[in-house]
Amino acid sequence: MQEEHSLERIPFHVGIIMDGNGRWARQRGLPRLAGHRAGVENIRRVLRGSVELGVKMLTIDAVSTENWKRPAEEVEGLLGLFARVIDRELDELHGEGVQLRHIGRLEGVSQSLASKVRRAIELTKENDQLILNVAFNYGGRAEIVDAVQHIVRDRVAAEDVTEDLIGQYLCTAGCPDPDLIIRTSGEFRTSNFLIWQAAYAEYYVTPTFWPDFDKDELFQALRAYSQRERRFGDARAG
Ligand code: IPE
Ligand code: IPE
Ligand code: MG
Repeated sequence: MQEEHSLERIPFHVGIIMDGNGRWARQRGLPRLAGHRAGVENIRRVLRGSVELGVKMLTIDAVSTENWKRPAEEVEGLLGLFARVIDRELDELHGEGVQLRHIGRLEGVSQSLASKVRRAIELTKENDQLILNVAFNYGGRAEIVDAVQHIVRDRVAAEDVTEDLIGQYLCTAGCPDPDLIIRTSGEFRTSNFLIWQAAYAEYYVTPTFWPDFDKDELFQALRAYSQRERRFGDARAG
């Protein structure tokens, strides 16, 4: 049943670790890249579902800093896919009021891809239907290292280093912490995704591979979230 009003509490910010493209492809006797293509197609479906269900901010883990360890053919395929998806989807996403942001390092990414990403951010910056943070060349530890280097370069005094200040130096500065992190394909690990920001996020893991994760699955995740009791370390329910 997909009655929106049956969700008592809608998470404002949902993070998604879109895992399982490779296994989805292998199950069908297809190359891994076919799984990534199907995975990219699925983003649109989940975006629409998120808007319909009332989620305001999504952060999706597209390619991590560690994914470059994969065979060159897969890495090149992922880079090509990412560039093509911006070309193909940008206008439509813009038309639907999606604000695109990037988290991760753009250094080391080719000039042409980096400028596509910057253009997409610039074009959509006033949109407010849904904020979509795309983690590309992102790793939580790398993000914290970059933040600390930046803080040191800014000569911030030790006593001024607070949790809030560190938050302002992360890629997600200005974004509320994720309320819910969904991971597809059944693995119970963070894989370096939003490790600072998700300190008090609720986690939801489904065995479904990412390309098959649809609006109904999203609804199940939101329903599980709505039944959780968040405490934030307190003795009472949050
Ligand atoms: C997730 O799917 C997409 C990326 C990490 C780019 P995987 O490629 O990790 O798929 P599995 O985990 O091998 O099935
Ligand atoms: C997590 O998936 C990262 C992304 C979906 C981009 P991985 O497949 O890279 O994670 P591990 O290797 O299983 O931990
Ligand atoms: Mg994986």
